[in-house]
Amino acid sequence: MATRKKSTARPSSIAASNGNLRGARAAIDRPIGVFDSGIGGLTVLKALTAALPGEDFIYLGDTARLPYGTKSNEVIVRYSKENTGFLLAKGIKMLVVACNTSSAVALDAIASDTMVPVIGVIEPGARAAAKASRIGKIGVIGTEATIASGAYTRAIQRLSPRAEIYTRACPLLVPLAEEGWTNNAVAELTVAHYLESLKQSGIDTLLLGCTHYPLLREMFVRILGPRVKIVDSATATATDVRGRLRTLKLARRGGAGSQSFFVTETPDRFVRVGRRFLGPQVESAVRIER
Ligand code: DGL
Repeated sequence: MATRKKSTARPSSIAASNGNLRGARAAIDRPIGVFDSGIGGLTVLKALTAALPGEDFIYLGDTARLPYGTKSNEVIVRYSKENTGFLLAKGIKMLVVACNTSSAVALDAIASDTMVPVIGVIEPGARAAAKASRIGKIGVIGTEATIASGAYTRAIQRLSPRAEIYTRACPLLVPLAEEGWTNNAVAELTVAHYLESLKQSGIDTLLLGCTHYPLLREMFVRILGPRVKIVDSATATATDVRGRLRTLKLARRGGAGSQSFFVTETPDRFVRVGRRFLGPQVESAVRIER
């Protein structure tokens, strides 16, 4: 089982790895469900585990059907609902939609028929960008579907109605990050090409609206210079999740949490690449049928 347990010193001795948790555990002791189209959501899980070390997480990467960023809204909604159904069956206490594309396109559809609280990455990311920008010129980058949805633009404008928002889809950055090409000439050329128009617009803040982009942070700084603030929605989402758990009195105290990984393709690549995204705790993953 793909579970890392740092400690067993828990009030509840029920195994956190998977299956039949519903009813067997108090709400507070249930895991948090996280899904993404594949590997990238591990950057969100990384931020979540740093903010909430005592929680158990169940991560689902829909590796058989990625990327979501080039798909139609109808398909993204369908896949996102299926991912949600899988995690709900695990008895989760909260759902985090780590995938920016799913959050941008499918969050309302997911939340409307889900009994547990659902948190996406768009609102927290937008809030962090609006807060970071001094002059109100904000760049947003993401997948084609995320940018086409206009979700980040709407969310930022609700918070800062006068903000000027410049967006750019950067699809090639996903395979570059997965290949580990984050600091070479190819990455530099590609990032420079994508960011050219945003740079010309004089943005003072760049919002990384895709799970993979935090891995290219250094390259963004190199291309845009140190004066442009780089904000990623993963960290902002983790802060939100912590706040929501506390408000709902669902936050666990102390202890060391676990992480279980599920994928829809053979796990080998997920484990290999996932280690770069999250760390050595990605030891194995369980393949589920789709
Ligand atoms: N996880 C996706 C996102 O954050 C990027 C990869 C994909 O297109 O599926 O939008």
